[in-house]
Amino acid sequence: MTSDPPSSTVNDPLFDSNHRIFSDKDLLKIGHVPEADRIVGRDEEISKLAKRLNGAVFGSSPENVMIYGKTGTGKSLVSRHVSQRAQNAAEDNIDIGTAYIDCAEDNTETQVISSLAAKLNDESATDISVPYTGLSTSKYYKLLWKTLDTQFDSTILILDEIDLMNNDSVLMKLSRAEEAGKIDCSIGVIAISNKIQYVDNLNERVKSSFQHKEIFFKPYDANQLREIMFNREDAFRDGVLTEDVIPLSAAFAAQEHGDARKAIDILRHAGEVAYEDEAERVHENHVRRAQQHAEKDRFRELVNGAPTQAKAALLALTELSLNSKDDVFLTGRIYDQYENICMELNMDSLSVRRFRDILKEQAFLGVVEIEKINKGSAGGIHLQNRLIEDPEVVRETILEDSRMQR
Ligand SMILES: Nc1ncnc2c1ncn2[C@@H]1O[C@H](COP(=O)(O)OP(=O)(O)O)[C@@H](O)[C@H]1O
Ligand SMILES: [Mg+2]
Repeated sequence: MTSDPPSSTVNDPLFDSNHRIFSDKDLLKIGHVPEADRIVGRDEEISKLAKRLNGAVFGSSPENVMIYGKTGTGKSLVSRHVSQRAQNAAEDNIDIGTAYIDCAEDNTETQVISSLAAKLNDESATDISVPYTGLSTSKYYKLLWKTLDTQFDSTILILDEIDLMNNDSVLMKLSRAEEAGKIDCSIGVIAISNKIQYVDNLNERVKSSFQHKEIFFKPYDANQLREIMFNREDAFRDGVLTEDVIPLSAAFAAQEHGDARKAIDILRHAGEVAYEDEAERVHENHVRRAQQHAEKDRFRELVNGAPTQAKAALLALTELSLNSKDDVFLTGRIYDQYENICMELNMDSLSVRRFRDILKEQAFLGVVEIEKINKGSAGGIHLQNRLIEDPEVVRETILEDSRMQR
């Protein structure tokens, strides 16, 4: 594929329509839904989900589905893809409505219901208008029922990141609307969560009304991640990607847990870094910098929120890692370093026991890895600690806190 520079009517040379690196960067947006032939390794999940929604295509009811899986395993993508296909495939006299809600944004009952009503409502067909704010929850429900009834035979509603929604009665009301005689249109909910216990924690009444099937999404392996990225290669200009870029991005994302979001983020970011560098092509070192940046972002969130004592503890482990060939250290050794740091910072130091708890908590957060070693009958159990993140990145992040500077 050769990409001719797009012709432009912009005359100001300050703005350049002809990007050196990207030819269609939108392909690398997280919310972008790629065409079917760019979707990799999800045939089984796609067909399972299609079976659950099948009824809608022929005028009967779709089933509810709960989708579980870690970040970047394609849950949102597959849900959007299959519901779009169901909508397009529907028999001539069948109208299917679909709507996608991100519960990280719309996290209250009123927000979810008003967004659904606004998204599904076609004013020219229903003659009603749905204001974005200002009505009571029950009014929004009424508008939603009316919208559904006038326009559709059935609807498929995707509630993404549902564990972030603060009120689970939405699920109950949506599930019961048809049997309660409120609407004639059947509703299938696809609820998505990366917390596997989500349904167990629901209130009993909600649980019994939200009858559903479950689908689990497994992480990708490095080959699948590579293929996912190769299928979007045309986001870049021809010949701009050097050959190691995609395999290296895949390797980094596979280390994480097989996260396609991370893979695509790194790839896009590598392109941005290359552009900033005024490079002609994207090279391996751009990927490494993009990866460092991604790690730093994730880590920064964890560290920024950490108490000062935890930062001092991490700094101790970080400095040992930077100044030694080893990367694992006994708790006692880190504690000594920590005490020095506290002294230099004019900070009280905690007891060894409290210090151990801090390391445990950091292990829980995935910043530190702790391994027990048994030193035999006399020696007892010792704990070896290792920093999971790159110590350079960790130190840089900790030192962003002015209280940590000596
Ligand atoms: N099987 C796949 N084939 C192609 N692209 C994928 C696939 N799975 C995920 N992606 C891409 O990876 C990114 C993250 O996927 P997403 O569906 O948002 O994951 P999740 O919802 O599980 O966190 C998106 O850009 C998506 O298009
Ligand atoms: Mg998602």
